[in-house]
Amino acid sequence: MVTANRIVLSSDHAAIPLRQAIAAHLAAAGWVAVDIGPTTPESTPYPKHGEAAARLVASGDCRFGIVLCGTGQGIMMAANKIKGIRCGVCSDPFSARMIRQHNDANMLSLGARVVGEGLALEIVDAFLHAQFEGGRHATRVDMIDVLER
Ligand code: RB5
Repeated sequence: MVTANRIVLSSDHAAIPLRQAIAAHLAAAGWVAVDIGPTTPESTPYPKHGEAAARLVASGDCRFGIVLCGTGQGIMMAANKIKGIRCGVCSDPFSARMIRQHNDANMLSLGARVVGEGLALEIVDAFLHAQFEGGRHATRVDMIDVLER
């Protein structure tokens, strides 16, 4: 298993087409997109999908996670309950770059009722192309980790 190339994707019912578009975009760029669904449009609660994706990131099975719901907010809150997860909601590429560079985020959340597909793909690319800067930012991220103990 090549964890470094694996990105898990999940969503609730509100974001299935956008999630699938992102999965296709990632696969075309050479990532292994681990799309854990759902695939059918019935209403389904975002916490369980946020948790499922977060556990694959926290365990090391996947390097990053991308989660989506209507706003991106609820599924982000659920993902952040899992130890070791740092997930931010982004509606712009600048924020997506910064949560990698400064916060060492390992998950990105998107709102399918907030951003269209074109912008969402730009946000995803900004997140994945950025690198954590370490240094003083590592000290601060360590302080977040302490809060989990
Ligand atoms: C579902 O209607 C909606 O509440 C959900 O997708 C999400 O926006 C919650 O944060």
